[in-house]
Amino acid sequence: MTILDGKKTSNDIKEEIKEEVSKMKANGEKVPHLAAVIVGNDGASLTYVGSKVRACERVGFESTLVKMSSTTSQVELLDKIHELNDNDDIDGFIVQLPLPPQIDTQKVLLAVDPCKDVDGFHPTNFGKMALDMSTFIPATPFGILELLERYNVETKGKHTVVIGRSHIVGRPMSILMGRRGFPGNSTVTLTHSHTKNITQITSQADVIITALGVPGFLKAEMVKDDAVIIDVGITRVPDETRERGYYITGDVDFENVSKKASFITPVPGGVGPMTIAMLLKNTLIACERHRA
Ligand code: GUN
Repeated sequence: MTILDGKKTSNDIKEEIKEEVSKMKANGEKVPHLAAVIVGNDGASLTYVGSKVRACERVGFESTLVKMSSTTSQVELLDKIHELNDNDDIDGFIVQLPLPPQIDTQKVLLAVDPCKDVDGFHPTNFGKMALDMSTFIPATPFGILELLERYNVETKGKHTVVIGRSHIVGRPMSILMGRRGFPGNSTVTLTHSHTKNITQITSQADVIITALGVPGFLKAEMVKDDAVIIDVGITRVPDETRERGYYITGDVDFENVSKKASFITPVPGGVGPMTIAMLLKNTLIACERHRA
């Protein structure tokens, strides 16, 4: 069994990006600039956005964090997005999800200039992705592809089962794993809350990508020997014995499933850090496209 080490791989990618940035600086070019918008005070979202901004500093990018109150109106948020679209200094930006209930997420995502949409959530970019055109691939799916590629995990002709059909992970992942190329060329089954007999499906899978947010959902008896397991779940479980008051766990019963798997991502230290590295990669791509 091989651990797909997202922490190490993401550090390798960040080092590669840092080198690119050094070259840009040496050539007198402006370095990439990422902005992140966060609305409200959700603890997990604040942590993720903080990590994204810190990662920018580490690779030499400029970053801007836009914090807006939980009572921000739709119009105020759209105004901010238009401002970021029009700001030539900013190469790419993200609006951290989820948004508070008074805000229509679809309207917000549609307002982002597709050229600056480094999350790859705009329908233009999502459509390009589905049509194999060059675009921004959403950071978490992009990170999973990168892990599979760097560890040379064979996906051609394999049966990939994706659990969860979210717009951020499950849906794009199901498209990407069925694409021509590597990683890809899989036969894909997308499962969700209405899927019947999920164990029957997962136990036939060569690759399982689970993005549910239900701790310990995937058990050893749901998995065949030598399966590849990608755990995208990140749940904070309250635990007063820990200084932070919680611990982080994934969708997979790691202790038992890892005994059967050929490759497996841990939580934490698997897909999570890859998401941030690939967001930086998309920002670098956005910057290079703006200069071209
Ligand atoms: N919320 C959870 N994951 C993500 C992500 O990749 N991007 C944004 N913008 N929000 C998220």
